[in-house]
Amino acid sequence: MPPVEHEGDVATEAIEFLTTYYSERRLPGLRERIDQVLDEIAHTGAYWQTESELTYGAKLAWRQSTRCIGRVRWAGLKVRDRRTVTRTADIATELAEHLVAGDNGGRIQSVITVFAPDHPTAGPRARIWNDQLVRYCGWQFDDQVLGDPAQVTMTAAAVRLGWRPPAEPSRFDLLPWVIETTDEDPTLVDVPRHLVREVALSHPVHAWFADLGLRWHALPVISNMRLRIGGIDYSCAPFNGHYLSDEIGTRNMGDADRYDQLRVVAAGLDLDTSDESTLWREHAVLVLNQAVLHSFRAADVRISDPHTESELFMRFCEAEKRAGRPVYGDWSWINGSVGWAALYPVHHRYYDTRVPNPNFWPGTPSTQTLEPSLRDRHHPTGQRVH
Ligand code: ARG
Repeated sequence: MPPVEHEGDVATEAIEFLTTYYSERRLPGLRERIDQVLDEIAHTGAYWQTESELTYGAKLAWRQSTRCIGRVRWAGLKVRDRRTVTRTADIATELAEHLVAGDNGGRIQSVITVFAPDHPTAGPRARIWNDQLVRYCGWQFDDQVLGDPAQVTMTAAAVRLGWRPPAEPSRFDLLPWVIETTDEDPTLVDVPRHLVREVALSHPVHAWFADLGLRWHALPVISNMRLRIGGIDYSCAPFNGHYLSDEIGTRNMGDADRYDQLRVVAAGLDLDTSDESTLWREHAVLVLNQAVLHSFRAADVRISDPHTESELFMRFCEAEKRAGRPVYGDWSWINGSVGWAALYPVHHRYYDTRVPNPNFWPGTPSTQTLEPSLRDRHHPTGQRVH
């Protein structure tokens, strides 16, 4: 677990960020810009970043995201500056446009949409309750869950707010968005279904696999993290990359507290599940991962496999070293869920465990979406606590 980072005051972080930005971009005028920013901070407690500062800051936040293995692409992040968009209806329109930009016809592109910065004392001006823009409902029936168990609380929150669930709940119902702003109550918005690309999972060899009826969405858009750049917080700044097969095949489908499909796949494969040492779980996970890669490729939807992604991350490490920077990283996340960790080069080195800013942090959770037992585990300033 990375240490909880110390957030300095706005002025200190602003100077640090501007210095990095001006020197990495080899720009003239750092002194003048710092004076201007300090003056603005002295009068208002915050400052308005230029579009180029915001753009570079968001890229830095990605470059320094210790849990992400895909960071070699950091400079290619597409930054949508939407800081003046503050009404719920307009935010919803922008979120729909984000889905289109990120999807990019299946050639998934990394995109972030940045809404208004938090107020220096009053906090977030807008917030999205959902943890991602595309998620499947979790329907709790007695002691069973239909759909994604990780979304049971969010699903219940949407229903409490007045969302009319589908007549026939299924395993893959799209959750509506809940958008909250300082001027408007939390508002439900149906996700524009036609903008959500999904991939039905089949296996290149096992024909029965398709009959399991599994599917996943193409675009992971994290929507509940707080982007922090130069002392300024952006609590509403959804961003996406593209999927790595393990995220879907191993975790979302395989985890016991998610879709829990290992036994189902093992049954299809007729594996001996009476003894862990037959490695039936590893076998089932392998088949799930093959299905994910095969199906996304067949559908022409961008996805990474762990070999390619590990090699690319090694290139990122080399580039950072050449630039004279430490490679920040959380080893456990970089190695993540790959069942055969030692096969990949990322396994065989350590990373700098500090977590500098700019970066992405857990947002202040909306109390309504949290189980009471979880509430006090979340620090009110939204610092990383897990
Ligand atoms: N692991 C998350 C999921 O399965 C997505 C996290 C972000 N992943 C990414 N490739 N950018 O939905």
